[in-house]
Amino acid sequence: MEYKFLLIETTDSITTLTVNRREALNSLNSAVIAELECAFYELDLDAAVKAIVLTGAGEKAFVAGADIKEMSELSSFEAHDFARRGQRLVQLINRMRKPVIAAVNGYALGGGLELALACDFIYASEKAKFGFPEVGLGVIPGFGGTQNLARLIGPSKANELVFSGRIISAAKAHAWGIVNELFTPEELLPQALKTAQEIAGKGPMAVAYAKDAIASGLNMSKEDGFRYEASLFGVLFATGDQREGMGAFLEKRTAEFKGV
Ligand code: CAA
Repeated sequence: MEYKFLLIETTDSITTLTVNRREALNSLNSAVIAELECAFYELDLDAAVKAIVLTGAGEKAFVAGADIKEMSELSSFEAHDFARRGQRLVQLINRMRKPVIAAVNGYALGGGLELALACDFIYASEKAKFGFPEVGLGVIPGFGGTQNLARLIGPSKANELVFSGRIISAAKAHAWGIVNELFTPEELLPQALKTAQEIAGKGPMAVAYAKDAIASGLNMSKEDGFRYEASLFGVLFATGDQREGMGAFLEKRTAEFKGV
């Protein structure tokens, strides 16, 4: 597919996916959402890609939310459909076999924060800003934000952020556990790529199963989660990667994983 609003660059098995709609602070209209869905789908199937870093073009914004101009014209039925499409995208990212790191370089508001929350973890620039301004527009977060934020930081902090519509600093987002680590704007992307590279050196099936165990387990009882974890652990012992990983340790050499 030809992408109008995305920049996609793959180096050493790591893809940097950049939302590039600077004139509207990279906000998500239907076309951007469709492109992102298509890109993530393709990247998940691409054997040459081991990890993905998602970021925004320019210095000002990661993604400043869903496109308010487009949303302002929607009927109730269309808005429901728009939310479902956004949710399909965030669920797709969450269910990808490959790790996805959000590198939040500026405003991550509304649907932009929801996009970041769909990723496996968030790194951010010290200048980034976070928030759910939706209530100030007379609506609520609609791309999974109420669900994912409350699960990540607990209902109390999520309530304060969502009810107030307040925009918080990167430092506060870090203190609240939304962001794993903060970097200078210059260091953000290199550090995200470095971590992606570190992950890419591990067993790809093991990373995919670890992601599945954590993501699926959050929707299960602890007992079912333990059972699921043990099943995935067992399945990995039928792979070449397990033999290679343990063999390399015992032979004191670096493992060379093939993802089979
Ligand atoms: N949708 C559409 N256009 C947007 C946008 C958005 N979410 N955010 C910014 N833009 C546009 C602005 O309209 C402006 O365009 P023009 O130059 O054509 O006027 C351009 O981007 C630059 O923005 P500003 O001039 O506003 O820049 P600023 O530095 O003064 O302010 C900002 C930056 C605080 C991020 C401000 O742009 C802002 O508040 N944006 C809206 C943020 C927001 O409310 N996001 C949530 C949307 S609702 C949502 O996402 C629902 C959901 O959960 C699915």
